[in-house]
Amino acid sequence: MEITSENPAMEEMIRAPDGLYGVAVTDTRISKSSADGTLTYRGYPIGELFEKASFEECAFLILEGRLPSRAELGRFIEELHARAAVPEKVYDIVRSLPTDAHPMDVLRTAVSGLGASEMSLSPRDQQYSIIAKMPTLVANCYRLVRGMPAIEPDPGLDQASNLLYMLSGTRPGKFDSWAFERELILYLEHDLNASTFTVRVVASTLADIYASSTAGLAALKGPLHGGANEAAMQMLLEVGTAERAQKYVQDALSQGKKIMGFGHRVYKKVDPRSQLSKALLRRLLEEDGEGDDLYRLCEAVEAAMWEAKKIPTNLDFYAAPIFYTLSIPIPVFTPIFAASRIVGWAAHYNEQLARNKLFRPDSVYVGPKELAYVPIEKR
Ligand SMILES: CC(C)(COP(=O)(O)OP(=O)(O)OC[C@H]1O[C@@H](n2cnc3c(N)ncnc32)[C@H](O)[C@@H]1OP(=O)(O)O)[C@@H](O)C(=O)NCCC(=O)NCCS
Repeated sequence: MEITSENPAMEEMIRAPDGLYGVAVTDTRISKSSADGTLTYRGYPIGELFEKASFEECAFLILEGRLPSRAELGRFIEELHARAAVPEKVYDIVRSLPTDAHPMDVLRTAVSGLGASEMSLSPRDQQYSIIAKMPTLVANCYRLVRGMPAIEPDPGLDQASNLLYMLSGTRPGKFDSWAFERELILYLEHDLNASTFTVRVVASTLADIYASSTAGLAALKGPLHGGANEAAMQMLLEVGTAERAQKYVQDALSQGKKIMGFGHRVYKKVDPRSQLSKALLRRLLEEDGEGDDLYRLCEAVEAAMWEAKKIPTNLDFYAAPIFYTLSIPIPVFTPIFAASRIVGWAAHYNEQLARNKLFRPDSVYVGPKELAYVPIEKR
């Protein structure tokens, strides 16, 4: 085989930094996060989309690469509604799981089960099906495991309102829906984070979207990634008041603990999504007449962390109190991330397959060599 720069000899392999820090492993046209604190979806700044667009418009943009016309958006929304109901067989799997199972484990199992029953669909229909069903699954996986009845999606509601409605059984107010939709927009897509990379690795083997998404969900669950929003809220409740923030942060850092909702591989100075969420939290608390205790608590933890480590908040830190204020159960925070990020995963799945090369890196072997086999009776 000819040795070229694209096909180096094994002995010329490059040892990438741990965690692939600073290494680009593919090209993308979907989104870009930059160290200067900017984020674009298909070239549009996140701040503009956050202010002006709906979740469905942004989802179409991420999937199709352009903003939809009014007619295209209408058809897109109709198709999501038409595919939103989940087959009873998938709910049977969910009902069989332990009542104390974590919603992320239940969701991952349900997506896997959904795949097993939709293999006859075209790849395009499979993607639309999983995107449309994800909010229904997130809500009803939580409900069914706890013995509550499933709630069918309401075709009169948009994706964000529907998810809130199916979780609580009550149709949400206009401002709450709008605020929740803003967070879903922020969670939609984020270039080559750990779960999206996982999705692309699995896609590169030519596995289907359900297999790729199940793997994506597994990666998302970890507290260093999607699980951070749940962990951040637990921490905020543990801190309790703004006055206790500094001591809590100092104690945690001196014990070598990580403070959840802080730090990012790309954004070392500011995460633009966190700034947008922070302002949104303030508005939401005002609108709901909740007082500013929670906001002051968050700001105090943020200030203590900045003073101690100069590490900024990431999206999960302010998303968590927003979800909490919207009365969303804490274990559903990470599944909600998935209900939105599934769109980004699908776009990356397609981009991977459009110019596929199997992900198969190498490793530097540092273990023992040329050992002689010792028969079991002599060990
Ligand atoms: C997201 C994260 C994994 C990025 O990590 P990374 O790019 O690999 O950077 P590192 O983990 O190497 O962090 C660099 C330094 O900052 C510290 N650091 C980073 N995030 C920290 C946090 N949340 N709390 C305390 N210290 C943190 C690390 O301990 C490390 O310190 P050191 O150089 O003294 O060892 C990391 O910031 C983190 O664990 N954050 C908490 C979990 C979280 O909120 N995840 C959601 C991300 S959107």
